[in-house]
Amino acid sequence: MEYGEFPLSDKEFSRIRERVYRIAGISLSDAKRTLVISRLSKLVRALGLTGFSAYVDYLEARGNADDDQNFVNALTTNLTRFFREDHHFDHLVAHVGELMENRPRVRGGRPRLRIWSAGCSTGQEPYTIALCLLDAFPELKRWDFRILATDIDSNVVAKAATGVYPVSELNGLSRERVALFEKAGPDTIRIPAAARQTIAFKLLNLIGPWPVKGPFDAIFCRNVAIYFDKPTQGVLFNRLGQVLAPGGFLYIGHSENLQAVSSGFRLVGKTVYQRKAVSDARDAA
Ligand SMILES: C[S@@+](CC[C@H](N)C(=O)[O-])C[C@H]1O[C@@H](n2cnc3c(N)ncnc32)[C@H](O)[C@@H]1O
Repeated sequence: MEYGEFPLSDKEFSRIRERVYRIAGISLSDAKRTLVISRLSKLVRALGLTGFSAYVDYLEARGNADDDQNFVNALTTNLTRFFREDHHFDHLVAHVGELMENRPRVRGGRPRLRIWSAGCSTGQEPYTIALCLLDAFPELKRWDFRILATDIDSNVVAKAATGVYPVSELNGLSRERVALFEKAGPDTIRIPAAARQTIAFKLLNLIGPWPVKGPFDAIFCRNVAIYFDKPTQGVLFNRLGQVLAPGGFLYIGHSENLQAVSSGFRLVGKTVYQRKAVSDARDAA
């Protein structure tokens, strides 16, 4: 244990596990004990409490919405990067292109394209989507093209909305990809305004109510469901299927799959699924 950390008994660990599962759907394995101690000790200390029992008692009896938010923020894992699992962006560009050619022009209105980055962390995923699509299809600037980017962690949503990152975030990217970003300062880069303007960042708990307007043409929900158990994953992916347009694409993380989790999709690429048409889903049932 590091200096300033509190000891965590089995009982305290199971109370914390139960609470984060109930609030956020996150299943903490035994391997996460050290992480729980290091991340939550700071909150316990800031509240002037004596340890984890007192902390959970406090959350249960007197904690407010900010305390719950801080608790969840501390226990999420937010690892992400620009162009992570980049074959998904190539697939999207290829298929949105087909979709754009076929989409009827709405009389008096602009053609519509909607994408959801569900579990967007600090924003690299939705910004990569926007940068790739605007680069491949500059005409999207005249479309009703919007990306909804949501996360349960208020700190990452706030950081994402700034659109500014350390230049080190571009390490390992090709010259063409680096050219999609703007220089902001000596050590920082900025997402160009055209890409920023397509994205709305919002706080949203995927296991709570969804105030979202579908249908979406594509949903990215990558490296989020790995923190959930199978029943929670099943509910999540079935709900995502309901807000995805028939034929729309669902992109999931490289270590995730929908086998035995949801039957409303067909696998069409490496961790790329397509929502079945209503009639296909009925035939398969
Ligand atoms: C590892 S990051 C993945 C980021 C990005 N999708 C990617 O693949 O690079 C997982 C994100 O899921 C979010 N998350 C976890 N539980 C959530 C929930 N119940 N509702 C919404 N977001 C959640 C976390 O806050 C975290 O930012």
